[in-house]
Amino acid sequence: MTDDTSNTMWGGRFAAGPDAIMEAINASIGFDKRMAKQDIEGSRAHAAMLAAQGILTDNDARAIREGLLTVLSEIETGKFTFSTALEDIHMNIEARLKEIVGEPAGRLHTARSRNDQVATDFRLWVRDQIDACLQAIEALQKAFLAQAEAGTDWVMPGFTHLQTAQPVTWGHHMLAYVEMLGRDASRFSDARARMNESPLGAAALAGTSFNIDRDATAQALGFDRPAANSLDAVSDRDFALDFLNAASICAMHLSRFAEELVIWSSAQFRFVALSDRFSTGSSIMPQKKNPDAAELIRAKVARIYGANTALMMVMKGLPLTYSKDMQEDKEQTFDAADNLMLALAAMTGMVSDMSANQPNLEAAAASGFSTATDLADWLVRSLDMPFRDAHHVTGSLVKLAEDKGCDLPDLSLDDMQSVHAKITQDVFDVLGVKNSVASRTSYGGTAPAQVRSQIARWKEKLG
Ligand code: ARG
Repeated sequence: MTDDTSNTMWGGRFAAGPDAIMEAINASIGFDKRMAKQDIEGSRAHAAMLAAQGILTDNDARAIREGLLTVLSEIETGKFTFSTALEDIHMNIEARLKEIVGEPAGRLHTARSRNDQVATDFRLWVRDQIDACLQAIEALQKAFLAQAEAGTDWVMPGFTHLQTAQPVTWGHHMLAYVEMLGRDASRFSDARARMNESPLGAAALAGTSFNIDRDATAQALGFDRPAANSLDAVSDRDFALDFLNAASICAMHLSRFAEELVIWSSAQFRFVALSDRFSTGSSIMPQKKNPDAAELIRAKVARIYGANTALMMVMKGLPLTYSKDMQEDKEQTFDAADNLMLALAAMTGMVSDMSANQPNLEAAAASGFSTATDLADWLVRSLDMPFRDAHHVTGSLVKLAEDKGCDLPDLSLDDMQSVHAKITQDVFDVLGVKNSVASRTSYGGTAPAQVRSQIARWKEKLG
């Protein structure tokens, strides 16, 4: 005998309901209610297909499909009461549907299982999320592009090892992030294309004996095709991992720029000023303006990696097909998606609002012997010196400048000739930072002419 505390959906073989602790560990409604819209979309497509196949009557299908819209509007307007006893979003919705339309509700689950249902819902949710990420990435690319346009030929130091390396242009540096974000977008698009197969109709794991039409439900839900193996369809979570991988790499890019902003906005660098809208003050040190948003982006990225690692760990030990472990796929993915969207939005705000300090950038570009390579190249070109020798001569000149406490362009011709007699006055033409950047005209190089053509390419691409 079933007592009245046992589960109404699966309690047929149970004599008693679950312990409160069991209910707490088992329930996913606290988080999977976020998939309500996708669940209802999937169920409506399933009901329509069942009717088209003659498995449900048209009347039952209509009642179900309309009832589901009522449930959706109750959820969207906050009128729906979620129940932990009903475990998850699937059973919460079905139970409410039963209250609204009565007996036909019980027919909706024909030729379906929560296993293919949840796999479908979650795919639809991740797919929606990818679309949102793609938009957010594009907005950030446009913000970087606007910065690149505003300061295409401003000179700044380029770094390796965070040591001054060679002068580069601000436009070039901004475009580096446009490129990274372009790859991020392409990773999300790849993930979207790969995941776009419908698990619906795989049923519990083995498929179904009902004469269903999986192509019809796939098409109704915007999938490219039904997934070809029912065992794989219910137990695959690669699509969420693809999403989390793409999110992790994108977040890594955000974190790198966040780190640059923290450095650049410091009193020691003063390369950029962040807007008041995206910084905070200190309650004790009145002079401070802190790059909190950049720091938080840098930190939130850790959560996204955490979610990626967690789901890899959840999945790695699971035999085919569905195991309840897989319920742990959602919370972390939701959290990662939320934080990525927040980080993208915050970064877009910071990049749009920041103002580069052109004089400081240029002054910094000129310090630290940043044109040493130009000098070595001049020795190669003008004196036909092998590059290795030129490197050595330049090293000696850097040492001389260092001893004198000056920069390379401040050395006199006599100083230069004391190191190598054949150096002529022309050398000073290549030592200015502007000359240096203007000379780097190789494809993808930092010369303003190159940067301008890359800006044009991206403007065309981003519209
Ligand atoms: N809430 C479950 C999940 O998220 C739905 C699938 C339940 N399936 C099952 N066989 N118990 O994974």
